[in-house]
Amino acid sequence: MTTTDTRPAIDRGTCEALDAADPLAQFRERFDLPEGVVYLDGNSLGALPRDTPEFVQHVIREEWGTGLIRSWNDAGWFDKPQAVGDLVAPIVGAGAGEVVLGDSTSASLFQAVVAAARLRPGRRTIAAERGNFPTDLYMLESVQELLGGAEPRQRRLIADDGPTLDEVLDDDVAVVVLTHVDYRTGRMHDMAEVTRRVHAAGALVVWDLCHSAGAVPVDLRGADADFAVGCTYKYLNGGPGSPSFIWAARQHQADARPALTGWHGHARPFDFTVGYAPAAGITRFRVGTPQLLSVAGLEASLRMWAEVDMAEVREKSLRLTELFIALVDARLSPHWDVEVVTPRESARRGSQVSLRVSDGYPIMQALIERGVIGDFRAPDLIRFGFTPLYTSHADVWDAIAALEDILRTEVWREPRFSQRGAVT
Ligand SMILES: Cc1ncc(COP(=O)(O)O)c(C=O)c1O
Repeated sequence: MTTTDTRPAIDRGTCEALDAADPLAQFRERFDLPEGVVYLDGNSLGALPRDTPEFVQHVIREEWGTGLIRSWNDAGWFDKPQAVGDLVAPIVGAGAGEVVLGDSTSASLFQAVVAAARLRPGRRTIAAERGNFPTDLYMLESVQELLGGAEPRQRRLIADDGPTLDEVLDDDVAVVVLTHVDYRTGRMHDMAEVTRRVHAAGALVVWDLCHSAGAVPVDLRGADADFAVGCTYKYLNGGPGSPSFIWAARQHQADARPALTGWHGHARPFDFTVGYAPAAGITRFRVGTPQLLSVAGLEASLRMWAEVDMAEVREKSLRLTELFIALVDARLSPHWDVEVVTPRESARRGSQVSLRVSDGYPIMQALIERGVIGDFRAPDLIRFGFTPLYTSHADVWDAIAALEDILRTEVWREPRFSQRGAVT
């Protein structure tokens, strides 16, 4: 016997009704999005907050132009990496004074992994996921070599098809480097549970939060994590190349010895002494002069983020991703070979949905030409990021309608859609 599906079919009106009841809807006006664009790539580069240009202009014209060198003191430039770090802190479940801005995520990861490994001096292995964003793995190669002396440290890689985390953990593992939300699939780890397992083996964990900060609620303290790094140009809308952040648990701060010992991480930088003495707390993770114009872009955005309730963000994010998956199931998968690779279980999903489809590259290019912007990750994934502050339910509907049309008409076969730029 077959059962009849009594769920009402979703249509654009359903999506508009969800938008009308959306408690975060007012935030869309706080962004400067081009007319006619459905922007589903905020997991790569977040949209421009409306207040940012004026804020950055102020820093350029007043603080730099008029204040000149005096702004290091008068405008608080010197302490900006900690002050803006304090605005990141509540978004990732950290306390005030625990987060500092860094350079790129790659550089911050290097800082954090070296500090973590040095806290486990007798252990020689670093474990990481094969599926980590590659820069994390590239940085680890150098950490292994530099900390290994004559004999480079070992690396063990966890993968979906094995070995598992539990299989790589033993009493030689110093540090485990994990990405909380996977950049390809959007799969999310249970941070508290994974951290507990790493600690049970006597190792420390460094979390990469690039696809988590501003995307999902993160509770670094509650999870008893050790170190974390992340970028701010994706879900936090800091702007292209905005600085990374570093967090170290309070219990590690006094003993942590990061890799790069620059003068901005010195206890008394303006004594200009010959020897290095680490600053107290998280400040020692600073390196050199901060990129203050980029910091300004981030500060402008984080002032808006201070008004945001992450529980509401998560609720809407799940509604958007569930709607997208339901529409793929109903309208695409029955007709074309399109597979949802993102976990369907909401607790395991970040704020993106990835679809496996052959010819993903030209399909995404055709979609972008229609004004629906997502991206492509080799070899066969097209990714859609859902940013609850400015993505609407109607956007989800329109994106699926455009994708359906592109697959049906096969317009993506036109040769121009297969021409690749340097960035995919
Ligand atoms: C998970 C993850 N880690 C690291 C990076 C690289 O960060 P950066 O270019 O700031 O070093 C990215 C970039 O997309 C990422 O997704």
